[in-house]
Amino acid sequence: MSVKQIQEEIHRLKKQTETTILAHYYQPIEVQEVADHLGDSLGLSRLANETNSEYIIFAGVDFMAETASILNQDKHVLIPNPESCCPMAAYLTAEKVRAFKRQHPNLPVVVYVNSTADVKAESDICCTSSNAAKIVKEISSFMGTEAVLFGPDANLGDYAEQISGIKCIKMPAEGNCYVHSQLTIEDLENIRSIYPNGQVLVHPECIRDVRELADFVGSTAQMYNRVKNSSIVDNEFCIGTEKGLMERMAQDFPNKVFHLISEKLLCSNMKKNTIELTKYVLEHLDDPMFEVKVPPEIAKKALEPIEKMLEYS
Ligand code: 13P
Ligand code: SF4
Repeated sequence: MSVKQIQEEIHRLKKQTETTILAHYYQPIEVQEVADHLGDSLGLSRLANETNSEYIIFAGVDFMAETASILNQDKHVLIPNPESCCPMAAYLTAEKVRAFKRQHPNLPVVVYVNSTADVKAESDICCTSSNAAKIVKEISSFMGTEAVLFGPDANLGDYAEQISGIKCIKMPAEGNCYVHSQLTIEDLENIRSIYPNGQVLVHPECIRDVRELADFVGSTAQMYNRVKNSSIVDNEFCIGTEKGLMERMAQDFPNKVFHLISEKLLCSNMKKNTIELTKYVLEHLDDPMFEVKVPPEIAKKALEPIEKMLEYS
């Protein structure tokens, strides 16, 4: 079967089973093409909260599908490849969060959604890359503190601290995304020398030196909107995030020009959800192997900080 035939079959099965497919911008482009909704982590959490379908296929990494499942405990949330996971989440365990809390008992705990459900369950509020600084500012002001505990991404924590002026104690200091943190100053200097008219857009998971050399720092949806709203003359962009977003924008904005800052910007975990597996899961909606379920007592505790984030955003 060609990719096009698989996509047609997916559309037919979706209609027949009334299934909603949510996909992150880092998914393979052919998976993005069959999605009912595309977005960044925050946008997809909101959409997951609003969808009425009994079955939701979440094309993203495990923590995103888990968040959708926590928000929809009465529905079936499935992931095309259960091995699609974000290695950043492994930097922080619930046990480590409890140890940080014992050391800093008065500080609010802000947990990036790229984390396990039991880590979320230990937090006061969750955040994504699009709202981290706002959440840090609001929760510290609400709890009357000048610092927060923040994990697991130390680069996003550093960015939130820079923007909000509130100290973010990193849980742990070395938490990072292997895709974004390998972008270097040299990569940015190199791309600027080749495309001097290109606006450089990077993700807040990049290291501080890289962020400071960029023209814009934002989540995937914020980058998408920046490109969408750019003027006709400002139409060239150097993209400092996972390749899938650039592929999406190249399709949606054919009159704009895109360059990927480095070929290293590929998240192999996100790419584990193939178009073939997406069709397979639609044909096996009741196979427990694909269902993402969080133990009810953890889900109950993790729901609060996720809902608080949605309320504050
Ligand atoms: P966004 O919140 O920008 O979609 O990012 C998620 C992610 O995994 C970044 O690496
Ligand atoms: Fe995780 Fe980085 Fe992949 Fe995002 S790009 S899912 S943070 S490994």
